[in-house]
Amino acid sequence: MTMEPGHRFPHKHLLSLADLSREDIGLVLNVATSLKEISTRSIKKVPTLRGKTVINLFFEPSTRTRLSFEIAAKRMSADTYNISAATSSAKKGESLVDTARNLAAMAPDVIVVRHACSGTPQLLTNHIDASVINAGDGAHEHPSQGLLDLMTVKEHKGRIKGLTVAIIGDIAHSRVAHSDIIGFSKMGANVRVAGPATLIPPGIEHLGAQVCSTLQEAVEGADVVMALRIQTERQNDPLIPSLREYARFFGISSRTMAAAKPDAIIMHPGPINRGVELDPTLADGPRSVIMDQVTNGVAVRMALLYLIMGGN
Ligand code: CP
Repeated sequence: MTMEPGHRFPHKHLLSLADLSREDIGLVLNVATSLKEISTRSIKKVPTLRGKTVINLFFEPSTRTRLSFEIAAKRMSADTYNISAATSSAKKGESLVDTARNLAAMAPDVIVVRHACSGTPQLLTNHIDASVINAGDGAHEHPSQGLLDLMTVKEHKGRIKGLTVAIIGDIAHSRVAHSDIIGFSKMGANVRVAGPATLIPPGIEHLGAQVCSTLQEAVEGADVVMALRIQTERQNDPLIPSLREYARFFGISSRTMAAAKPDAIIMHPGPINRGVELDPTLADGPRSVIMDQVTNGVAVRMALLYLIMGGN
């Protein structure tokens, strides 16, 4: 994509992909592509963020996001600290805002936060001076995942504009789906969604998605097929009869992929429930770019930390 020469990242925080312009997203992807090379060196470290402090504040489990933010910060020479709900004084009844204000009193430059409640990162920006990066807030958004998914598609397809992206599964409770719908449609892709009717939220079209009534309709001619996990942790009552039935009607299999373009790629944000939303042979097969998503997660988070802490 074309960018104004000298376009600077104008955001102190990253709360939602809705806040980023096409130029901002293009800048993050360009910087991430440049920084990716650092992770291929024998000494994977540059001094760019020396003296900066990043705190990862995670109130929900994470493998990829927490670790890749930590690796990203360390590869840029920032100091990183991890704090989780289980080991923090939140266990003793300290409120979220009090926790954040106490962390802020130790002068971090960035707080990366994951929380089960939508809007938590936004709330923190009202109480602390540090930059806040949303690492997943409830069913709302996961913007750095959206950016790494955009980077991965651009790497494999050479562009995003004009592609058809099919996102399959629990659209209602997936913060990844919401960030991807916003990000891919903003960058000019056609985004289709499909899943059980109980897992398609009313009004999702307003984010830029076309709702398809069947898996086949969503995948037909698609360039990208993305499977999502059923987010049982966000469902008070079961919204599907059984995982076996879900797998039968919405699990991505070789038969499903026959309807997509012959060079269509398969994505999944992880963690995968193998054999439920995605056939294991596809997850590990030649069309899968799932490990590239993970690799690009480090590059995108390096770019975000760099740009948010004043790089240009
Ligand atoms: N994709 C993702 O957010 O994975 P984690 O929950 O492991 O961070």
